[in-house]
Amino acid sequence: MPRVLSCIQPTGNVHLGNYLGALRNWVAGQHECDAFHGIVDLHALTVTDSPGVLGRNTLELAATLFAVGLDPDAATVFVQSHVPEHPQLGWIMECTVSYGELSRMTQFKDKAAKREADFVSAGLFTYPALQAADILLYDADEVPVGEDQRQHIEITRDIAERFNHRFGPTFTLPKVVTPKAGAKVTDLQDPTSKMSKSSSSEAGIVYLDDDPAAIMKKFKRAVTDSESEVRFDRATKPGVSNLLEILAACTGRTPDAVAADYSQYGPLKNDTGEAVVSVLAPIQERYRELLSDRAELARLLRVGADKARAVASRTLERAYTNIGILPPT
Ligand code: TYM
Repeated sequence: MPRVLSCIQPTGNVHLGNYLGALRNWVAGQHECDAFHGIVDLHALTVTDSPGVLGRNTLELAATLFAVGLDPDAATVFVQSHVPEHPQLGWIMECTVSYGELSRMTQFKDKAAKREADFVSAGLFTYPALQAADILLYDADEVPVGEDQRQHIEITRDIAERFNHRFGPTFTLPKVVTPKAGAKVTDLQDPTSKMSKSSSSEAGIVYLDDDPAAIMKKFKRAVTDSESEVRFDRATKPGVSNLLEILAACTGRTPDAVAADYSQYGPLKNDTGEAVVSVLAPIQERYRELLSDRAELARLLRVGADKARAVASRTLERAYTNIGILPPT
């Protein structure tokens, strides 16, 4: 059974890009693999600076992960800070990656540029080293993510290879897995940019907890183009192609097959909105139920952390032994 690991940051509302690019695929694969899914609160610290926010976001994100369908009996859902092996191996990863490699990370360049005059932490720069630790601690074979994470999984492979070369076989080299449709959901108002929590316009982002009227409004106002032909072509028709890909992802078809059903933008926008509403409605209901029992959520996270630690502590031990760190007596 392949070991699968993927994580998400508790940095605010989960959006449709997170769902179609990642969460949905975690759920789809959970019974055919040994799945580990982390809520990476320490990663979120790179951009969080107000007290009290992180814990609340973490619990709400746990409710979201179970609401989208992660089954606590099948998948191990845990909070990163509950497993101290993450920052421990993270430091070793920082010593295995170079300044030059980290400087080439497009996510760092984008995020640092967006923060402009804001504080840009060293953690934002060394972020991929901690992410490598998240993955390598679990000997993950596959990492199901959206397209924007590809470079981070590639650097994880490079780090693992370098470590194995220096200290002997220690880590499994992970493979990136992206979905056929939904790997890069773009902003409805700016369809050449990915849908992102840090987008400037709320109108372009569909949140998992948006009500049906808000979702329909966002899709009806989605930016398309001045032609009228419905065709899947990311390069010249990014807005229309994004709608086709979202509708395809929601209905289990291909964007080209969906395109063949439409000759006008209006019905495409309407049907895409309706498809998203019907996918999200049951998730929203389960989310509310789950969040009403915070003690049960906390219990599930405790069980998850115990299972995660059992695996992570063995891997960290192996890394320490292979490096030859003097064990305490
Ligand atoms: P994060 O929290 O930004 O996003 C979580 C997941 O959602 C995917 N995603 C998207 N997919 C399609 N279209 C979009 N517009 C879109 N926006 C986000 C992301 O690709 C991701 O799969 N660095 C990671 C968190 C992380 C991680 C890990 C992931 C930390 N450690 C180990 C995998 C393995 C991040 O910031 O994801």
